[in-house]
This record gives sequence, C-alpha cells and structure tokens, in this order.
Amino acid sequence: MTDDRSGQKDSEDANVPANTLWGGRFAGGASDIMQRINASIFFDQRFYRQDIAGSRAHCNMLVARGILTSDDGNAILKGLDQIEGEISGGTFEFDAAKEDIHMHVEARLAEIIGEPAGRLHTGRSRNDQVALDFRLWLRDEIDALDPALARLQTALLDRAEEHADTVMPGFTHLQAAQPVTFGHHLMAYVEMLNRDRGRFTDCRARLNESPLGAAALAGTSFPIDREATAAELGFDRPSANSMDAVAARDFAMEYLAAAAILSVHLSRLAEEIVNWSSAQFNFVSLGDGFTTGSSIMPQKRNPDAAELVRAKAGRVIGDLNALLIVMKGLPMTYSKDMQEDKEPVFEVADTLTLTVPAMTGMIGDLTANKAVMAAAAGQGFATATDLADWLVRALGLPFRQAHHVTGSLVKLAEDRGVDLDGLSLADMQAVEGGITDAVFAVLGVENSVASRVSQGGTAPSQVRAAIAAARRSL
Ligand code: ARG
Repeated sequence: MTDDRSGQKDSEDANVPANTLWGGRFAGGASDIMQRINASIFFDQRFYRQDIAGSRAHCNMLVARGILTSDDGNAILKGLDQIEGEISGGTFEFDAAKEDIHMHVEARLAEIIGEPAGRLHTGRSRNDQVALDFRLWLRDEIDALDPALARLQTALLDRAEEHADTVMPGFTHLQAAQPVTFGHHLMAYVEMLNRDRGRFTDCRARLNESPLGAAALAGTSFPIDREATAAELGFDRPSANSMDAVAARDFAMEYLAAAAILSVHLSRLAEEIVNWSSAQFNFVSLGDGFTTGSSIMPQKRNPDAAELVRAKAGRVIGDLNALLIVMKGLPMTYSKDMQEDKEPVFEVADTLTLTVPAMTGMIGDLTANKAVMAAAAGQGFATATDLADWLVRALGLPFRQAHHVTGSLVKLAEDRGVDLDGLSLADMQAVEGGITDAVFAVLGVENSVASRVSQGGTAPSQVRAAIAAARRSL
C-alpha cells in the first residue's frame, strides 16, 4: 500500500480552491491540516477495484431503469475501464485534496468523459459506496485466506501422519502428564484451524449483503433496482434496512475477532515450536528456511519466524480492540469516525498473509527428534496413570485407592532416583501385595499410548482415523 504523504505542503493554512464535489456551498477550501486529517486516499486506494466494480454495477442498473441514457452509461463504463487501467498501471495521481478513492474515481471520470460523469452519483452516496467497497474487499480477502488455512492444515496432517506413532510427553501445566503421540499433538491444531475456517466462513455469509442503494442513509427517490446491483456484485441479497446498511461495521469486527482467535492459535503453536527447538527440549530441529543465526554466538539457531508469529498476535488483538473502540457509542448512522475502520483491517489482512504461510513453512521444515521425544516421554513418571488404571483393572482396586498406591510407588521411585519401571517387583509388592509381573507391560510409553483407544484419544489407531477423517473433509 502506498502511503506517500511526503509530497505534501506543511503550511497549516495553505487554503486550496473549494472542493468541486460540494463547492456549491463552500466558498473556500479546507486548510492543509484538515485535508491531512480528513484524507483516507492513502489507505483506501486499496479499494479501487471494488469501487470501480460497484460503479459499473450502479451504472448498468441506472441505464436498465432508464435513469441514465445508454450513451451516458457507455461513456461512464469506458471511462471506468480507463481509470482502472491507470490505477493498476501506476500512472494514476493520488492527491490528499480529493480525500478518498470514491472522489478520486469520480473526479478523474469527469476529466476523461466530462459532463456524464456527474450523473453516475444519482441515487448513491459515498456512505453506501464505502460500505459496499469494504464488504467486497473483505469478501475477497476471506476467500483468499481459506485456502491458505487449508494448506496449513495439510502441512500439519502430513506431519501428523508421519508421526502417528512418535511418542512424546503430553503436558498439563507444562509438567509431563501422560505420553501422547506427536501426531496427536499436531492434530489438535488441525481441529482449531477447522473452527477458525468456520468462523471466517460464517463471517463471509453474514457480510454478503449489498448496502448499495441505501444512499446516504434513507434510501433514494429514484426507481433503482437493488436486487440487480446485489446480483451483479455477487451478493446474496440487498441489505434490508438503509440505515443499518451504511452504519454497520460488525462484518469488519467479526472478521477481526476471527482473525484474533486464529492468531492466538498460531501464537500457541509458535510458542511450542520455540520451546521444542530449544536445546533444553530438543524435540525438533528447525531448518535454515525459518531461522536466523547470531552475529556473536556461532552455536545459535534462533526460531525467529516462530517468535514473530507469536508476537504478531498482539498486533491483531490490538487491531480488533481499536475497531471495537472506534465503533462503540457511535449513533446511527455514518460518522466520520468510521473512516478509521479500514487500517486495522488492512493491517490484520497483511499480517495473516505472513503468519499463516510462515507457520505452514515451519511445520513443513521441522524435523522431529524421535529418540529425544521418546526418552522424555518416559521421564517424570508419565505412566503413573497407566499404573493406577492397571491396579483398577487387574486387582479390582477402587480408582481412588489405586491413585494412592501409585502415589506411594512414585514416591519410592523418586527416593531411589529411578523411573517407575526401574522399581523391582519386590519393591512394588511391598507397597501393594497383589501386584504381579504383568504390571511392567503398562509402564512402557508405547503401551501407554497404544492403550488410549477411546474416541479422540492418542492411540496411533485413533490418530490415523482422525487424520483420514480430516483429509476427507479438507
Ligand atoms: N472516506 C470515507 C470513509 O472512509 C468515505 C465515506 C465518506 N462519507 C461522508 N459522508 N463523508 O468513511
């Protein structure tokens, strides 16, 4: 996005000629500082394609309804094509005095085709225009994000499949809790991303109503056809209430909320990658693609991409917060405050075009250190729950009593400086006489993991079933 304010005059009171769009009432021009606080062109020029598409649809409808002659309509359409070419070709001149994208297009149209340009704005206002542009733009953005999220899910699924049997410690409180498989752990994120995609899909469905024809706020006296413009622009229907149409920005807030939740999910995974790739964990090794070295410490390989994905969640949450606060307390209908709605959304969309592919790249790039993970999975008495379950199953102890016996065995192992399977049968029988040799089978991490066959559990058979189901729904 271009943000070239540098070419502007600094003098505060450099008055300019009256604005041609409302010059009838205004004899003088706005002060320089007014132009600068008022202008949105340096960011809303992003809407130029949507703005021109909206103008085409409006023009076609005005002609169909006999509000515009077809000669005027054709001149307008030709002019719009030329403007689109100028903007995409980089030859179009942007100027803070012309405030926003809507006025730039209209002013340029007047330069190119003369008088008929002034007829295009019949039955329309910048209020319904900006609401229209924003919805069209965000719809495209959501449509581009969904396949990027699907690619991240595919990267996770591929890794999960490869590691459906790879044992690692599962944590609660970041304390070793029970062994799980790396595949199961990665599949947790596939589930989160499914819900994220659902939230964006829901947002898209709700935003897909056309505000065009609401005009300033009250509708128009011209015999416009809102169904026709809505259909031409791919909307499901025209919005039902003209005041709501120009005042609503919940579609943008909803997008930012979905983006904030997604970013929190990405941030959690990023945090895990940072932990896992540290020398202390050493669960994964990262490749060269998403890490940096240190200029002073030759041994370092820093997970910068993961750290930045983790941090960018802060930016996204801040942008959601910014728009919520801009909108709170605004009376019906449009207020200029709402011009501040775009930059947070643009920043978030730009951020997601970095964080989602960066995470996809990191997942594809990492190598799991299986032996280290397996060794860690056996530490910290991680199979204590398996032992308690065995006491219930094999000896018929009530679970609470089994929990108590296991606690005593853990204490004993701790005192001896060994893991649970390092205790002798005699040691165990001293605590609970009924224990037999068979107990050792459940103390191994592989057996522990393989036994978790409940639906959605970590047994490799369950993980493979979850992967297959996820691939089908992708
Ligand atoms: N640039 C304005 C915005 O972004 C467009 C709408 C202006 N409408 C108005 N009544 N001043 O919100």
